[in-house]
Amino acid sequence: NLGVVNIPVVVHVIYSNSQENISDQQINSQISVLNSDFAASNNDANNVPSEFAGLVADSEISFTLAEVRREANSRTSWGTRDDMKYAYPPVSPANTLNIWVCNIGGGILGYAQFPGGPASTDGVVISPQYFGTTGYVSAPFDKGRTATHEVGHYLNLRHIWGDGRCKQDDFVADTPESDGPNYGCPSYPTVNCRNTDMTMNYMDYTNDACMYMFSEGQKSRMRTLFMDGGARTGFLN
Ligand code: ARG
Ligand code: ZN
Ligand code: CA
Repeated sequence: NLGVVNIPVVVHVIYSNSQENISDQQINSQISVLNSDFAASNNDANNVPSEFAGLVADSEISFTLAEVRREANSRTSWGTRDDMKYAYPPVSPANTLNIWVCNIGGGILGYAQFPGGPASTDGVVISPQYFGTTGYVSAPFDKGRTATHEVGHYLNLRHIWGDGRCKQDDFVADTPESDGPNYGCPSYPTVNCRNTDMTMNYMDYTNDACMYMFSEGQKSRMRTLFMDGGARTGFLN
């Protein structure tokens, strides 16, 4: 039994104007959301319908803000090809989660690298207005769930619809099959592939206010990374 695994976090704030130079308070609000969402202590967890209530998982993963690096740069949009990471390399990626907060552009909220990729680009990227719950934030993505979703990818979780049609797997047994992403705030039950979609899972594409759980199967998939032979054993001390 690994117990609670703590993940130190370095946040790189790359800004081209004062709005993008988000406050420490905004950064801390995001760390709080990560801690409550990954511990299932988020106060909307009680919205999970009874069909899925028994699957809500405390992942026993916590996050500690280690450092904030602020970088002024005249570039106004950074895209999804890791340019921000080459400009400002990750700090100790074997035992630190690096988060680059910069304007991605193109309406993209965030993106992540799965475990097993190059150390030089390891971590997640999030646009400032979708990071945290206070300050420069933009509804309906103002509850910090973009980082929860992207850190889910960083810890090896796939989208619950498996990025394909009904039979496409997300490699997690207790997340029901679905034929594609759900958006907005779906009503319950939303039925696809002859079962109810777990639309309230962080790994769907719903609004921040409408996603509030990881499942037990997702928890075990994430925690396998920290065990012998896993791709993120560096977080054990
Ligand atoms: N990678 C996804 C995107 O950029 C993130 C979706 C996050 N969803 C959310 N409700 N915050 O579209
Ligand atoms: Zn995603
Ligand atoms: Ca599944």
